[in-house]
Amino acid sequence: MGEINFRSRGIGDAPAIHIFQRKAVFAMKLWAGRFQKETDTLVNDFNSSIGFDARLYEQDIRGSIAHAAMLGRQGIIEEHEAEKIMEGLKAILADIEADQVEFSLDNEDIHMNIEELLTQRIGDTGKRLHTARSRNDQVATDFRLYVKEEIPHIIGLILDLQKVLVKKARAHLHTVMPGYTHLQRAQPTTFGHCMMAYANMLRRDVTRLEDCLERMDECPLGAGALATSTYPVDRFQTAAALGFRKPTDNSMDSVSDRDYAIELLSALSILMMHLSRFSEEIILWCSWEFRFVELDDAYSTGSSIMPQKKNPDVAELVRGKTGRVYGSLVTLLTVMKALPLAYNKDMQEDKEPVFDAIDTVELCVPVFTAMLDTLAVKEKNMARAASGGFINATDCADYLVKKGLPFREAYMIVGRLVNMCIRSGESLDTLPLKDFRAISSLFDEDVYDALQLKTCVNGRSVYGGPSADSVAHQIEQIEKFIEERAQTDET
Ligand code: ARG
Repeated sequence: MGEINFRSRGIGDAPAIHIFQRKAVFAMKLWAGRFQKETDTLVNDFNSSIGFDARLYEQDIRGSIAHAAMLGRQGIIEEHEAEKIMEGLKAILADIEADQVEFSLDNEDIHMNIEELLTQRIGDTGKRLHTARSRNDQVATDFRLYVKEEIPHIIGLILDLQKVLVKKARAHLHTVMPGYTHLQRAQPTTFGHCMMAYANMLRRDVTRLEDCLERMDECPLGAGALATSTYPVDRFQTAAALGFRKPTDNSMDSVSDRDYAIELLSALSILMMHLSRFSEEIILWCSWEFRFVELDDAYSTGSSIMPQKKNPDVAELVRGKTGRVYGSLVTLLTVMKALPLAYNKDMQEDKEPVFDAIDTVELCVPVFTAMLDTLAVKEKNMARAASGGFINATDCADYLVKKGLPFREAYMIVGRLVNMCIRSGESLDTLPLKDFRAISSLFDEDVYDALQLKTCVNGRSVYGGPSADSVAHQIEQIEKFIEERAQTDET
């Protein structure tokens, strides 16, 4: 019968939630009228969600205040009763935030805990709050409010990461590095181009989140258990009071829809997939084999046994935590699969995966951003890895094409050149002109300039390409994207 204490949001910005596990061996329920026996304690604990849904206390109270105000305005309860309820709810909120409230497992979930507290505090008037409402529309409303409020926060974190990417890209417009396909050196690019690749992925992540936010902006309150009610409730009033665009259109759908949570989890899974790919890249780049980057000491760890080690734990953990977020998505998809209309208790399983995914993302993105911001780029090592090999072989073929040869023929000639170089231990940029000419008389002294990595990169000034001008344009686009969001924040 001990006390469970936890913070309702992992990062210390919320009051501690106290839950007393059990007050009696049997619990007297709100629904006791229908029953001849009390709930078995095992079932009581099994059924209870207060251990994790307590974090919805603020949304629950806000939803109840909007509902009570509407009940009063519509004459469903007396205005003075609505006032009393609203005052009582505000006092409960203040007490929770001041760490003064204990929740009970016997009251199952956050909704019944708050209702029970209200009635204890204001007496019978508290019992009028649940008129024309069910926990089914209540939980659907609370959860939507919660998810709706977390999304802008997550978007803000992604925009911060994009800002760091833009900063790195701008500093490395001319930092040549090998671009890979199949993890084999393919064509030269720049570190800036590479950073902007990730900035573009993150732009899609932001718009996916905005898109799901837009779709979820409808209020289920007033849907009741599944079929609304016979009271003259005004769902438009409560929707507006809670900041929703409009009420949901079908009450059965309203109480059983968790698409918004699945969409969020899917957007977060894709975001984590991007961070995991980026992490993998950083892990490779900081290996002694690549040595393209060096992590700041503050963002890496040592080994307890091997004194030389500097480990990319942050990147590895972000890569690893991606699995948790995918897990949450699959959990909720599976929970929802084959559920008939309308509410089913299975749906109580929606919260933990969503909370865990949100917490994980809110933990990963800022630490990843800081790690990237402090990462040192080893330009010389990147340049060395890009030169002395055949990364400019396509450019060599393009050189011949510019002199009139069809690409396929040029490709064959350069293939033979590469083969020759491999056998003689040369590279294309050191091969003597006479050897070039032995294979094609179209080669001239200017081939060496054409094969310079900077020429190869800056020659690729196609829209989206790696040339400094193209990447500068990509930077402008992302900056504009970030700027537009900063403006909507201010309005
Ligand atoms: N704790 C429940 C949930 O999270 C609230 C809704 C319960 N509704 C019900 N009819 N049992 O889903």
